[in-house]
Amino acid sequence: MLEFSWRDGGDWDAAVLDYFASGERVAATVLQVARAWFGDLDHLGSLLDFGGGYGRVTRFFAAELGPQRVSSSDLLPGAVAFARSVLGVGGFVSSVDPADLRPPRRYDLIYAGSLFTHLPSGRFDRWLERLLAMLEPDGLLVFSVHGEELLPPEHEMPSEGFFFEPSSESHELDHAEYGSSWITGPALRRRLEGVGAVHRLLPRGLCGYQDLVLATASAAVTADGDVDGRRRRMRALPIDPGARCQIESCTLSVGRRAGREAATLVLELSGWAIPGAADTRVESIAVLLADPPDGQVQSLGTLDAGQMQPREELVEPLDLDAAARPGWSLRVALPVPLRRTAALLVVEVATGPVDRFDPVGPPRADEALRTVVWAGALERLLHHTARENFLRHRQRVYELAEIIEAMKQSFFWRLRRRWFQLKRAAGMTEEDPDGPPITATDRRPPGRARAGTETQEGRR
Ligand SMILES: C[S@@+](CC[C@H](N)C(=O)[O-])C[C@H]1O[C@@H](n2cnc3c(N)ncnc32)[C@H](O)[C@@H]1O
Repeated sequence: MLEFSWRDGGDWDAAVLDYFASGERVAATVLQVARAWFGDLDHLGSLLDFGGGYGRVTRFFAAELGPQRVSSSDLLPGAVAFARSVLGVGGFVSSVDPADLRPPRRYDLIYAGSLFTHLPSGRFDRWLERLLAMLEPDGLLVFSVHGEELLPPEHEMPSEGFFFEPSSESHELDHAEYGSSWITGPALRRRLEGVGAVHRLLPRGLCGYQDLVLATASAAVTADGDVDGRRRRMRALPIDPGARCQIESCTLSVGRRAGREAATLVLELSGWAIPGAADTRVESIAVLLADPPDGQVQSLGTLDAGQMQPREELVEPLDLDAAARPGWSLRVALPVPLRRTAALLVVEVATGPVDRFDPVGPPRADEALRTVVWAGALERLLHHTARENFLRHRQRVYELAEIIEAMKQSFFWRLRRRWFQLKRAAGMTEEDPDGPPITATDRRPPGRARAGTETQEGRR
């Protein structure tokens, strides 16, 4: 995972930060689900991080629950050995074929993050069935999938609603068994129902990127037999997957205030933020700064939801209500002197249940959930947003080049070309009807749509 982040962004420090920040966020989401399902984390006796790798998330489970309640399993023996010896959790080596797995016990909660996103079709169902059968009677399986909208544009989703490509980031695993997969919502529901699971799908529930799925074995496997009760309970779980947010622009201007010797630095940030679930809302966006060596964290500025703006062009792509106000911009003064490559800038979005202030609503956690959208050096954010904007503009150039190419194939264009040829032959013009040719570099490169700062998770 760490190597993937590093190759994706090209900066080692940023990759390390991303690795731990995303691990913490994933663990917080899963533990929030656990709190809601089991009532209290004290009732969660055992958690298995299945396909846990080298513990990006496992370490945060262990920190919250204590290592005795946590186990990890992976196909890679080195990853299991690391989890056992360094993180102090339990662990066992997994198998390619679910039928060969010999788990030492059943678990209250099994988390399988970024594992089903790699499985081929046949293994997908078999692992689903196997993991559900490894749950304690009231246990819960939480796993992530790539939804259809994450499928790269160069691929087409087959009618069965499942696409598998035998390629992945792994150097060690067979890509026919561990590639990359995408699944539609209806196909996922069919498969879950096929293995008798009561389930709930949280679109983009994992760090605003992968879909999160909660599943529990139905009455056939469990003792209580109350499938409808389970469905109701699953639907009613109060879950806030955090905000989805993107920083679209970041600029720094240097000025001198009248009558003052020292220069002032003004940071302007803008972007969009939306809640991760229908029953939650964005409450505020804050910018914080920690400048070592004293490391004091200071708040530079906060924007309340009331100051956010409508962004019409985002309504369709983000599937928003027409009245939504996702746009935000913040202008904050930075302390000087400031070490732009060392000071840690944090941008976070607070979300909470829509009925938080409703005195007759059901009791909800009083603390806002804070989603860290950015945590890194100011200099890197400036570089990162500039790069993202360059990629966005380049993408637009590819799209326009494709539109122009299609236009040139039309009857009207062919007629126009003929007309220009006649004019040129008659010496009436020198103009080339096609304009400069579109070169190979103007064409869309193969590859995946990027998520920008929206997420630090999931392009795996
Ligand atoms: C993309 S990584 C995710 C690691 C970790 N869950 C995280 O989110 O950081 C997928 C992991 O699944 C493991 N894996 C692949 N096939 C598996 C199997 N059949 N059983 C258990 N783990 C498996 C891989 O070795 C790898 O560590």
